[in-house]
Amino acid sequence: MKNNRLALVPAFVLATSALLALPTQAQTAEAPAVAASALFQTFGAKPGLVKLMDDFMVRLLADPRTGAHFKPANQQRVKEQLVDQFCVTLGGPCVYKGADMKSSHANLDITKGDFNALVEVLQAAMDAQGIPYAAQNRLLALLAPMHRDVITVQ
Ligand code: HEM
Repeated sequence: MKNNRLALVPAFVLATSALLALPTQAQTAEAPAVAASALFQTFGAKPGLVKLMDDFMVRLLADPRTGAHFKPANQQRVKEQLVDQFCVTLGGPCVYKGADMKSSHANLDITKGDFNALVEVLQAAMDAQGIPYAAQNRLLALLAPMHRDVITVQ
């Protein structure tokens, strides 16, 4: 079951990237504020995201596919920025003050394989927190379009 989900990741990332072709209005119209806020609660609100990101970073550092990218980084800062970014993405009451995705990943030589590896590690961290699959998939769908700014090596 789990392996099947992971095997679907590349196809999922590609499929959701098609959403980028839609006008902005069409994308936002699908996620009413109330539902997004409920989604934020499903992740345990801000304390849940702090816990998720603590575990996510441990896993990112341990995974041979992503570890080399995150070892030289200011890991505490990245975790804090991810908490705020995910909070906003899930409809929570936060402000993201970090760098935009294009400039923060511009010099990191990130491939599609790196991106998919990070998504798999995030899925494992969400599984460990007991976050329901439907909520996991909603977050992944919101993050997927960012691959255009994050992947710099084809
Ligand atoms: C949807 C996917 C991703 C999201 C939402 C995301 C989000 C972020 C955020 C919010 C930051 C902090 C920016 C700041 O400090 O102002 C960051 C930094 C960073 N990200 Fe990502 N990221 C993604 C994919 C990746 C991937 C695939 C890698 C590599 C495998 C990666 C490696 C890094 C590294 C190394 C930093 C720290 C850069 C530095 O030291 O300045 N990210 N990311």
